[in-house]
Amino acid sequence: MQSIYLLNTGINETIFSINLPKNIKFGFGASKEVGFEAKKLGLKEVLLVVGERLYNSKLFEDVKYSLENKDIKVHVLNRVRIEPEDEEILNSYREIKNLRIDGFVALGGGSTIDTTKALNLLYTYPSDLMDYVNKPVGKSLHPPGDLKPMIAIPTTGGTGSETTSVLVLDIKKLKIKTGISNPYIRPTVALIDPLTTVTVPPMVTASTGLDVLNHAIESYTAKPYTAKPMVNNPEERPVYAGSTPLSEIFGIAAIEYVLRYLKRAVANPYDLEARYYLMLASSIAGIGFGHAGTHLPHAMAYPIAGMVERWYPEDYEFGYPIAPHGIATAIPAAYAFNFLALYDEERFYNVTSLFDSNVNFGEVPEVIKESYLNLLENLRIPTTLKELGFSKENLEALVNGTMAQQRLLSLSPKNVTKKDVEKIFLEAIG
Ligand SMILES: [Fe+2]
Repeated sequence: MQSIYLLNTGINETIFSINLPKNIKFGFGASKEVGFEAKKLGLKEVLLVVGERLYNSKLFEDVKYSLENKDIKVHVLNRVRIEPEDEEILNSYREIKNLRIDGFVALGGGSTIDTTKALNLLYTYPSDLMDYVNKPVGKSLHPPGDLKPMIAIPTTGGTGSETTSVLVLDIKKLKIKTGISNPYIRPTVALIDPLTTVTVPPMVTASTGLDVLNHAIESYTAKPYTAKPMVNNPEERPVYAGSTPLSEIFGIAAIEYVLRYLKRAVANPYDLEARYYLMLASSIAGIGFGHAGTHLPHAMAYPIAGMVERWYPEDYEFGYPIAPHGIATAIPAAYAFNFLALYDEERFYNVTSLFDSNVNFGEVPEVIKESYLNLLENLRIPTTLKELGFSKENLEALVNGTMAQQRLLSLSPKNVTKKDVEKIFLEAIG
């Protein structure tokens, strides 16, 4: 039992809560039960949102058939950008706002699920999108009540978005990445089917797997929820609470699975054992970070993804430069964990020993960095930001973009200063 969770000072938070979809189904073939689940929710006319890559797939046909077979009318929206932007979400909303929809189904990766969450929010409670966007960029307003039912079928095994109440989007005019986070946008049902991931190309598998790894490590090492001040009103309790005894269990299990299976799934997409456990890792890390939160590497990833101008990674050839979320998180993570390990030696020791069982207590900062960079090299992922086109000239903007993510930084095991972030970025640029 960790004593950090037993603080009872009268001013520290003493309660955490976990909110999940009403139903999570996991296993080979789970996606084919979408018609059954939609019928159970009483749906008659749904919007099926699908990523472009999947639009012509058998999986899409199967999902559509499963719905239609239960006499559910299906409208299809098939233009979803990877790393969604506000303008595209609004264009899609204009396209669907006059349809008579009583539910949403998302089939795709985190971008598709996030886009669907945003569409459901705007469709059910029309408002200026910025009203819902997190402060300080937007107003962080909550909708007045429940949204339409939403079924999420993840197909990449990365974001865990099918169980969380957050979505990430780019605000094009401001050139920044931010999000919406409120309990209402969480999907009602998650159908998690490892078979959907066998067509995911290697670089996408690597990136999403690294995202899972960071969700797990960051939520495991986040400041404990008891370090936050007690709330006056239960409604004020933040979605991201800080680490909890439950997020620790989910985090450790997810790290073990990713380290055991990610290289296998990248080498052989049809390795069903690897796909099964990576999908499981993604879901349980999602449940862990979905209530505990992430911290510094995710905060650093926001400006990296928002500012990348010259990188077109393999398997992501969409005609625009992109730093896929998992990669944008993984490169700074190696350097950030090296820095942070000194400030929570015990938990970083536990994490590092999963990478290298021979690690000694005093070597943790060095070993976590080296092991993490080795993993990136093995997956053929860049180990510096220089390889993505960044230089020291970008330093100030990268640091400022990170410092703006105070919601995430507040969970870092050390309260990082601008100078700390600058030091970590200097190393990460390389
Ligand atoms: Fe993430």
